[in-house]
Amino acid sequence: MITIDWLELIRISKEKRVFVLLDDFFQGHPCLDDLHSEHVFFCSSLNAKSLSTVEKVWSSLLENHFTKHDFLIGVGGGSITDLTTFLAATYKRGIPHILVPTTLLAATDAAIGGKGGIDFGNSKNAVGAIKEPEFLVVQPQFFQTLAQEELEYGWAEVVKHALIGSTELYHEITLNRFQDVDFLVSKSIEFKKGIVEKDLMELNLRKILNFGHTLGHALESFQNEMKQPFSHGKCVVLGMLKEMEIMEKLGSLSNSEKTELNQWIEQIFPLQEITPISWIQVLPYLKNDKKNEGNLIGFVEFCGVGKVNPEMKLSLQTVQTLLS
Ligand SMILES: NC(=O)c1ccc[n+]([C@@H]2O[C@H](COP(=O)([O-])OP(=O)(O)OC[C@H]3O[C@@H](n4cnc5c(N)ncnc54)[C@H](O)[C@@H]3O)[C@@H](O)[C@H]2O)c1
Repeated sequence: MITIDWLELIRISKEKRVFVLLDDFFQGHPCLDDLHSEHVFFCSSLNAKSLSTVEKVWSSLLENHFTKHDFLIGVGGGSITDLTTFLAATYKRGIPHILVPTTLLAATDAAIGGKGGIDFGNSKNAVGAIKEPEFLVVQPQFFQTLAQEELEYGWAEVVKHALIGSTELYHEITLNRFQDVDFLVSKSIEFKKGIVEKDLMELNLRKILNFGHTLGHALESFQNEMKQPFSHGKCVVLGMLKEMEIMEKLGSLSNSEKTELNQWIEQIFPLQEITPISWIQVLPYLKNDKKNEGNLIGFVEFCGVGKVNPEMKLSLQTVQTLLS
């Protein structure tokens, strides 16, 4: 994956046939006027990651005779970049693609590492594929229009990177919070890229990126089902906090470090506004986690900043006891 700037993207769109997948938010947005394409598919982030959207785009690509020499370009948040990657991996068994993440979360996480996928049934990311984009375009000015929650919790994955091993990010956030957007975004991309390069298929090391996501994804699915959706970032923050509590109960994380990290997280996210989560209600949603083995639920064991073990497995019964 090569990072290119906006002008280079415009040049590619002039020289190649491109099919653009665009988040609804950007309908009529002036900054996209320069992008050359007769084929623009607008989609709402809410149903982007669905089989029906995939079918519509596959049909359009076929009808318009797109080939493996053309490009897919995905412009939007993680929902659009996940969809674009999945389409790029599956259409004609692989067509080149370019990602333009427009949310903080997509720029620092979703668009990095080649994972694409769609939700199915009530399971998030149930069907997916891995294919790295040819090019990545990060334009921090897009973040200026993000809604309050997307701005506040968009840093969730950067905080996760700081906790699981990026000392540079940990120090920067501790000293300056989220002031230096360019630094945080570029270091986060660098950190995730470094892990993905060593383990693209998530056979071992890459699994550490799932810290906070066992409970976070289950909470996200639960909230969606309740028709009270929480952003992915908010779910990851709440998931990391609850998983730290579990790790303390299991003796993996000391009480003092857990308390210190809880305070650190509480200072950087507006958690006081959230009504307490009923984690027992979230429990059934753990059964579909991709890290599970048989009846065992997969967790990333968190033993302190930079100390993680990606292979922890707990029975549902144990998790239930720990969540009570
Ligand atoms: N592939 C991966 O490795 C990976 C990692 C983390 C998350 N994800 C996925 O990413 C998705 C969440 O991504 P997200 O948090 O970016 O949310 P999102 O894509 O759902 O976008 C959130 C909202 O922001 C709007 N939006 C997008 N860009 C905007 C902008 N510049 N200004 C104003 N509004 C804008 C969208 O229209 C939407 O309403 C989830 O589906 C999650 O599973 C994937």
